[in-house]
Amino acid sequence: MRILFDELTKVFTDKKRGKKESVVAVDHFSFEIPDGQLIGLLGPSGCGKSTALHLISGLHTPTSGRIYFGDEDMTDVPVEKREVGVVFQNYALYPHLSVLENIMFPLDNLEGNKRISPNEMRSRARAAAKLVQIDELESRRPKELSGGQQQRVAIARALVKQPRVLLLDEPLSNLDARLRLQTREEIRRIQKGTGVTTIFVTHDQEEAMSISDQIVVMQSGRVQQIGKPQWVYDFPANLFVAKFLGTPPINVFRGSIRGGRLFIGKDDVFAAPGLSDQEVWVGIRPEGFILDEQGPLRCTFQSLEMMGRDISVMAGHVALEGERLQALLEAGSGIPAGAAQVNFSLKPDKVHVFSRDTQVRLDWQKGGMGK
Ligand SMILES: Nc1ncnc2c1ncn2[C@@H]1O[C@H](COP(=O)(O)OP(=O)(O)O)[C@@H](O)[C@H]1O
Ligand SMILES: [Mg+2]
Repeated sequence: MRILFDELTKVFTDKKRGKKESVVAVDHFSFEIPDGQLIGLLGPSGCGKSTALHLISGLHTPTSGRIYFGDEDMTDVPVEKREVGVVFQNYALYPHLSVLENIMFPLDNLEGNKRISPNEMRSRARAAAKLVQIDELESRRPKELSGGQQQRVAIARALVKQPRVLLLDEPLSNLDARLRLQTREEIRRIQKGTGVTTIFVTHDQEEAMSISDQIVVMQSGRVQQIGKPQWVYDFPANLFVAKFLGTPPINVFRGSIRGGRLFIGKDDVFAAPGLSDQEVWVGIRPEGFILDEQGPLRCTFQSLEMMGRDISVMAGHVALEGERLQALLEAGSGIPAGAAQVNFSLKPDKVHVFSRDTQVRLDWQKGGMGK
């Protein structure tokens, strides 16, 4: 099911100490989610992800704007008529019911011509249990299941009504690291198996990047960028997006454009024809550094760590935002023992330039390396 947002906005107004305070939790959302995709809605805590999800589910009414499923205007359609399945972080299962009874539960509340016989309920619940691979545990109680298994029951319960849209709000937050990894792959498999349009909310960029067809990056209620994970990583729209994606994070420097060249501090690193003289931020991905004695970026060496396939080098630079930069080099790159200085040349694709004023990424014609 295609979902269309048209200037969708949600403002909360609270009274605090007698004063009215407003929060724009979702600010003029205007974009389309194509049918059958898994969308990762990504952003820091408090940026409006859950609110956006509840505008889709119908739990919240928008302050302004419209929302459509296909061509159907859903803005004033109540929750129970929207046919969405929702899974929350706290996937409250009924402790006194078995796995199968938990999954069947929503089918009991079907109305009118949607009502089905108990036998049909059972077989639909079994099909959902099979889909999430917990069919062998159908007679257990929730407390006899691991966290990951409980989460699968919650997903089966959301799927059993064959929803038009599946909404997952930080569904893996309560799981330990290993289960998180496994369950996210599982969610991907289930989504591809059913083809149901799915929105997966998370503050964890790696989680969103690894399973989403497209990610929507949010900050303070506003969409910052939408696109395929790799594309957003490679072409971040602004400094916020560049900093939010990637582990280790992008290294940020104060830079400037002068006479058609890009400077980081005093280091003349690239020709940058086409950009006018101005102050900029320069972001360099950790994998963008090449060890090079003649390289133009001159750093003070701090420490080195072997990480299997990579070598991680920590270094300092006067123009750096933050205390140190982290460069990931291929194993075998030799740093002389006791070196005080380390110089790098840079991979142009891994270097991003942002306006100091607006923080928007500037498209620069990447010229040759300096010096
Ligand atoms: N029911 C509410 N009443 C008032 N403010 C709310 C309510 N729900 C959320 N907010 C505010 O809206 C903003 C976005 O919240 P939320 O959507 O929960 O963010 P996220 O899910 O990204 O952490 C926050 O500033 C939050 O305090
Ligand atoms: Mg939330």
